[in-house]
Amino acid sequence: MRLVLLGPPGAGKGTQALSISERLGVPHISTGDMFRQAIKAGTPLGRQAQEYLQGGGLVPDSVTIGLVEERLSQPDCQGGFLLDGFPRTVAQAEALDAWLASRGEGLDAVIDIEVPEAELLERLTGRRVCRQCGATYHGQYNPPAVAGKCDACGGELIQREDDTAATVGKRLEVYRAQTAPLVDYYRQRGLLREIDGSQAIERVTRAIGASLGREWR
Ligand code: AP5
Repeated sequence: MRLVLLGPPGAGKGTQALSISERLGVPHISTGDMFRQAIKAGTPLGRQAQEYLQGGGLVPDSVTIGLVEERLSQPDCQGGFLLDGFPRTVAQAEALDAWLASRGEGLDAVIDIEVPEAELLERLTGRRVCRQCGATYHGQYNPPAVAGKCDACGGELIQREDDTAATVGKRLEVYRAQTAPLVDYYRQRGLLREIDGSQAIERVTRAIGASLGREWR
């Protein structure tokens, strides 16, 4: 299956992506994770992306589209993929459509996870991520077994640089202006599956499964 996960910052895309990609056996491709890894490794891409991530703006389409096309060309994407955080602009969506069409392919569905804005703020400012493996937690909604430590690898849990209240405000503004138009873009193409993301994590997963015609327990 070729899927896109759409939704505002903090909607739960990354959280859901882990179980969806595992259940469907397709790679999870997160542009945010790709940029953060490049920044950590100090690559030229990382140096280019850093100021945009820190400020809550979008990395230019000219950089992002090429990066994703290169990733989708890898053999592990031949049987499908789950895109998380891409596309984020109409130009990115059009480029993805054109790239897939040139291979005689297309998207199967776009899963739009929607959550009220007040809740997004609470989720993002309370989010903690593992410094080592990147696993995501929340102090209240998804706490680790031992405070401050990752359940998966024991790594230290930290706050993402762009999860401060000021940067979160900017990210939500950017989402409304540049990414929200994709909801109509995909609705018009009959691909949109709208999911209530304010339910508990497991219920959201089940709703996504149902929207794809699967029964996930
Ligand atoms: P990216 O990393 O993609 O960030 P984002 O889209 O802002 O999304 P988040 O990772 O913040 O949230 P999420 O929806 O994954 O939520 P999560 O599951 O963690 O992008 C970062 C930056 O990279 C961008 O600002 C931009 O600069 C750049 N970038 C990336 N892609 C780009 C592109 N295509 N073009 C240009 N620039 C790009 O959940 C959030 C919290 O809520 C967690 O604590 C979690 O435990 C909790 N939670 C999750 N689900 C629930 C639930 N159901 N109930 C209660 N709590 C929940």
